Amino acid sequence: MKHQKIVLYVTGSIAAYKAVYLLRLFQKQGAEVRVVMTPFAEKFVSKLTFASLCKHRVYSDSSFSDHGENIDHIELAKWADISVIAPASADFIAKMAQGIADNFALTTLLATETPKYVVPAMNDVMWNNFATKKNIETLATNHITILNPGYGMLAEGYAAQGRMMEPEEIVNAINISLQDKPLTGKHFLITAGGTIEDLDPVRYISNRSSGKMGYALAQVAAQQGADVTLISANSHLADPQNMKIIKVKTSDELKDAIMQQLPANDVLVMAAAVSDFKPVAVATQKIKKSENSDELVLHLKKTADILKLVANVIRANQLIVGFAAETNNVQKNAENKLNKKHLDMIVLNDVSNQKIGFGSDDNQVTLINKTGIIRQTGIESKQQIAQEIIQVIEDQLN
Ligand code: CTP
Repeated sequence: MKHQKIVLYVTGSIAAYKAVYLLRLFQKQGAEVRVVMTPFAEKFVSKLTFASLCKHRVYSDSSFSDHGENIDHIELAKWADISVIAPASADFIAKMAQGIADNFALTTLLATETPKYVVPAMNDVMWNNFATKKNIETLATNHITILNPGYGMLAEGYAAQGRMMEPEEIVNAINISLQDKPLTGKHFLITAGGTIEDLDPVRYISNRSSGKMGYALAQVAAQQGADVTLISANSHLADPQNMKIIKVKTSDELKDAIMQQLPANDVLVMAAAVSDFKPVAVATQKIKKSENSDELVLHLKKTADILKLVANVIRANQLIVGFAAETNNVQKNAENKLNKKHLDMIVLNDVSNQKIGFGSDDNQVTLINKTGIIRQTGIESKQQIAQEIIQVIEDQLN
């Protein structure tokens, strides 16, 4: 971002206060920043706050000059290298998608040819509204990057999706997208989440996987230019925009989806936690407690080991990466899996450490291939870990 000229568009949302910190982060990265505020944004944060920090006047509807000397919106539109709309309200997104230009911010944006990043922030119902979804899709298909809102506490006082991405994450995502796209032309198949096996109409067997690691890997690969297909097993995370997503429930559905997609891909990253067993038969009625026994015996059978099946069908130039969730003898067990499943690399997760692994935002992994340990990470965010894993995969593809 060094020496980049960024125009930060602040629209009407309670998250506008976070745009102040975002401005500071852009400056710390060496960027020069100008701020445009919509009339509604000015009700949340004062123009003076932004003006004092960016040492420049803040643009707003009063910037439309009537003396004809400068056409501010055109000059600003040409000045910018990057446009960031944060927070982007539902109303502003709708107008952008339609090309409406009824305030200074929208007019400038319509006249600028820079890469654009939209960082939505809104109520969860508004975010899930069909109209918002359609508008977001319109922007995304027109090469505008959407930095999706996260799940967290909303101003309304409950937790849901709609919370603006944190400023540090915004800077990180923009930095990544500005880099070269070294994975352009590569096809990645990434699995995430945990499979579910029904026992009866109300109960099932599953595992603690949240899907966070697989989703982070898919996002990083896509940001680096890869064509990504994400197979998601029962994850509650928001759908990323810039990839194909296939939803599955059971290990058999996961297996079928992988087998169908695999031929068109260069890399398979198997981050999904697959049920190792499924019921011999799924009860069609709810299993009732018995008066005669305090125990219930479930008859389970092994599911297919998908990676072993994959090993039988892969082409020589396809790269297969597995995961190993281990609690003891971690390295030895991971190396055994690498060999037994004929993998090119295995990502070892020590799940006995409660601070990392399942459900947590952080992780710590060891990357192992046939020559031994290639890399060991510290305890870092799953996003950072994903970047390191994708980097190693990229090195192996070259
Ligand atoms: N895996 C798979 N098919 C299965 C089970 C696991 O393809 N039926 C994949 C996982 O997605 C992961 C790797 O194999 O990439 C290792 O999974 P893990 O659960 O750690 O090992 P298991 O093979 O299930 O062995 P165990 O449960 O005995 O540790």
